Amino acid sequence: MTKLSVEHLLGIKYLKKQDIDLIFKTADHFKEVINRPIKKVPSLRDITIANLFFENSTRTKLSFELAEKRLSADVINFSSSQSSVTKGETLIDTVNNILAMKVDIIVMRHPNVGAGVFLSKHVNAKIINAGDGAHEHPTQALLDSYSIREKLGTLKGKKIVIIGDILHSRVALSNIYALQLQGAEVMVCGPTTLLPKYIASLGVKVETNIKKALQWCDVANVLRVQHERMDIKYFPSIREYTQLFGINLDLLKSLDKKIVIMHPGPINRGVEITSEVADSDQAIILNQVENGVAIRMAIIYLLAQQIRN
Ligand code: NCD
Repeated sequence: MTKLSVEHLLGIKYLKKQDIDLIFKTADHFKEVINRPIKKVPSLRDITIANLFFENSTRTKLSFELAEKRLSADVINFSSSQSSVTKGETLIDTVNNILAMKVDIIVMRHPNVGAGVFLSKHVNAKIINAGDGAHEHPTQALLDSYSIREKLGTLKGKKIVIIGDILHSRVALSNIYALQLQGAEVMVCGPTTLLPKYIASLGVKVETNIKKALQWCDVANVLRVQHERMDIKYFPSIREYTQLFGINLDLLKSLDKKIVIMHPGPINRGVEITSEVADSDQAIILNQVENGVAIRMAIIYLLAQQIRN
């Protein structure tokens, strides 16, 4: 396969295994490029990309912007807090005004589930979902899988546990889809109140004992508690959460194997993970960030090819 089977990157749910293989193969090439002294290729000189962030972001926004610049695309940035959205403009009007300036690709993060799908039906541009509410975050899941593949050689047959606030996490759902598509076994672990009721129907194992979950897995992907999406209390206190679900060195040492630790960031040090663990040689957290740029370059490059054909 040399072309993606999708017109936009809206979620992992819409991808096939072959799409992921193609994205990874393309990312391998771009990873080599970004490690050269001149980290840039002229591939996208004719393409203009708008990054629309209606929700806060550090890593994802910078990573997309860097990926776009390393492909030599023209880039414009928009963040909702400083825009006419606060004056009552609709999403479609905002985006159509941006498109009138001849934009080819929109990268969008939005607090509403399905915002990317909605936009893809109403405007004439390629849409990349950079996170829609608590739904999907496809580029994060792709860079996570790519980082596991890099560390362990393959995803097939590997055991991955996703730990923490599964209920409010778009990283969790996209990871579940991506990992299963590549033949990995997936478990979720967290307080019962932070595990969605339907979660087992996705074909994942469910565990509430952190020690058992870590003992089972090859890789633990640790998530932040998403306080900003909570309108009620889901657990008694952060201190209790840390005692029951926090990953510390003693816990890792008590296992009879060495597991890989991942985190999409931002980390709340001392809450879901201690500094010793986050900075240990078992953690591949900064590799994930590095790979994020190569993965995003690959996706943008593959979607831009469709514009030209
Ligand atoms: C995640 C997100 O925004 O969904 N972060 C990220 O994109 N790297 C996870 C989080 O906010 O905890």
